[in-house]
Formats: sequence, C-alpha cells, structure tokens
Amino acid sequence: AMETGVAKNPIKNWERYHHDLQARIGIDQKLMNRVITQARQNPKTVVFAEADNYKILKAAETVLEQNMAFPILLGEKARIQELIEEFHLELDGVKIIDPREEDAKCEKFAHLLYEKRKRKGMTLFDCRKLVRIRNYFGCMMVETGEADALISGLTRDYSSTIKPALQVIGVEEGVNKVAGMYIIQNKKEPYFFSDTTVNLQPTAEELVDIIGLTARYVRFFDRVPRIAVLSYSNFGSSAGVVPTKTREATRMAKQRYPDLLIDGEMQANTAVNTDLLREHYPFSELANEGANTLIFPGLAAGNIAYKLLQEIGGAETIGPVLMGMRKPVHILQLGSSVRDIINMVAIAVVDAQTCKAKL
Ligand code: ACO
Repeated sequence: AMETGVAKNPIKNWERYHHDLQARIGIDQKLMNRVITQARQNPKTVVFAEADNYKILKAAETVLEQNMAFPILLGEKARIQELIEEFHLELDGVKIIDPREEDAKCEKFAHLLYEKRKRKGMTLFDCRKLVRIRNYFGCMMVETGEADALISGLTRDYSSTIKPALQVIGVEEGVNKVAGMYIIQNKKEPYFFSDTTVNLQPTAEELVDIIGLTARYVRFFDRVPRIAVLSYSNFGSSAGVVPTKTREATRMAKQRYPDLLIDGEMQANTAVNTDLLREHYPFSELANEGANTLIFPGLAAGNIAYKLLQEIGGAETIGPVLMGMRKPVHILQLGSSVRDIINMVAIAVVDAQTCKAKL
C-alpha cells in the first residue's frame, strides 16, 4: 500500500479529508462549487488510466458517490480489486477494464489508430502494441465515444502522458497549441496562470494563441480575464529576448482580441500590485484592478512559479487544466492529492457537457 502513496491510516485521513472537502465545497471552494454543481446536473463517463492506485480509486469513489461522474477504471483487475477491498472502497458496479485482456477492442482501436497515424510514421504493428498501453487505450475510448473524458498522469511524467492524447485526440478546431492552466487561490481572488505545463519556448505568435485560449477558460470559471503578459521587464525597461517577445505578443494580442483587457510586458509584481501600477504605470489598462490572469513567457517560468506557490506560498491550487483538446483529457501532476483529482474530474465532466453539446 505504501507505494500507492497511502498514509498510515487512510480511512481516518479520508474522514478528515471528506469533512474538509464538504466544508470547502460550501465555503472557500466557491470557484469549484459552481463547476461541481454543474457536473452533478449531468454526470459523464470518466476513464481513469491509472486505476491501480489508491488516490485514483478514492477519487473515483467520491465522484461516484457525489454523482459527479461514472468512473471507468483501467488497470490490472486483481490489483484494483485488492485495493478496493483493502481500503473498503465502494465501487460496486464500476467497470474495470484491463486493456491487455481486451483483444477484440484492441484490434479495433489498433486499426483506428493506424488510420490516424499511418502517415505519421506508425505501422499497424506499432498500433497493436500501443493500444495495449492504458493511456492509448483510454484516449481511444474517449475518441470513439466509449467514455466522455480521460484522467491520467498521476504516476507518470507529463510529456509521456500528453503525447498519446495529442496523437489520438488532438486539438480542437481553431486551436493551434494546447496549453495548461493552473488556478491559484489566495484569500483575495483566484489567479489564473498559463502556460504552466506544455509549451517549452512559445513564440510571440504562440503566446497570442495561449492568451486567447486562457481567456476562454478563465470565463469557463465565471471570471472576467484581466491579462498580464509577464517578463522580467516593465514596458521596455530591459532589453532581451523575453521582453521583446512578450511585448510583441502583447501588441498582437491587443489587435487580435480587442475586447480583452491585456497589457504587458510587465514584471509579476507589477501585474498584481495596483499601487505599483497606478504610481508608475498609470497608462496601463490594468492600472485599475491589476491582473488576475498571468501569461508566462515560457514553460520554465510558469511551471516553477505555480509549484513554488503551491509548496511554500500556501496557496490553494487547481489544475493543471489542459486547454484546447478536441475532447476532454486532463493530465494530473505527479503526486496530485485526492482532492486535486476530484476537482479535475469535475472540470472534465463540465468540459464534456459543453463538448457534447457542440457535436
Ligand atoms: N499543442 C498542440 N499540439 C501539439 C503541441 C501543442 N502544444 N505540441 C505538440 N503537438 C502535436 C504535434 O504537432 C504532433 O502532432 P502530429 O504528430 O499529429 O503531427 C503531436 O502533438 C505529437 O508531437 P510529438 O512531436 O510527438 O511531440 P513533441 O515532441 O512536439 O512534444 C510535448 C510535445 C510532449 C507536449 C512536449 O512539448 C513536451 O514535453 N512539453 C513539456 C511537458 C512537460 O514536461 N511539462 C512540465 C511538467 S508538467 C507538470 O508539472 C504538471
């Protein structure tokens, strides 16, 4: 049990956690509250690619019990059953699928994958092997409509989990690059950080795409985006690749999205400190209220910033919300908590409700 990340007394911990969750859903989890309520109104099928894990199973039990989603569990059946029994989980009637035992389905998925990827270097032989892997199998389930959303990534690195999703499901129409957003909540208000998980060194053009995508997802959470494009300089105060790129991205984004409140390039403290903005940069569109949406110049900055806030900043975080996929796929960060997983399921379900409506 230790290797699945379970504390000494999971049941006790769970009770405390559950109490905490209930309290938070009602009080400080306002932002998620709406999403969770909406998920419950029309629960969807969510496939968990890494179900041989206590945290995933605990989250699956909760979302089932709270009527947020219908889980499907992927993994070795005996191992999953063992965990369910060991921790007295109530997952009766939940489908458990081991892709290695699903010959007919794998053959069908292999051909579908081959059709998609035959001109991208995959042979049918490759596809037959790949669909036995849970991430590919899970993505194929979402792709073929057997499931509405996929949750994965708890125990594997992000890039090897996102690759199957990009190959099998891909981006939604009109989107060039997917990106990952984190919601950082402090006592004041939620902040939206992007891109925190996908694009290594986005160009100015790519930053403009990321800005548009992020604005849409900020609205998904019922907030009006006030966007700052971040750099280590304020409005041309330093020279260098990052200031130039972020300044250019700001200029293009203002043109492309005339209705959005965007400014930059600016330093992170400037973006969120209205005193500083008003005193030194009163001309800025953000001078009134400051930013709630922070666009990072590259993955290193965005990823490091959110993780530091999470670990030593004491902030409540939700994510990573994978934005711009054609169908809902969300990849957890290594070591996400049960609570993080439940939040991501709620987001995926609401994502799926909207996605279905479009079809
Ligand atoms: N948006 C949309 N599609 C993309 C993106 C993107 N950002 N990046 C790649 N793709 C597409 C490619 O165009 C390609 O499409 P195609 O094969 O149909 O033509 C497909 O995805 C697969 O591309 P690959 O070339 O196999 O993958 P690539 O080498 O481009 O890598 C990846 C993509 C895995 C996302 C890479 O950019 C990466 O590793 N990013 C960083 C992930 C990471 O480590 N994040 C930090 C940790 S996350 C955390 O802390 C929670």
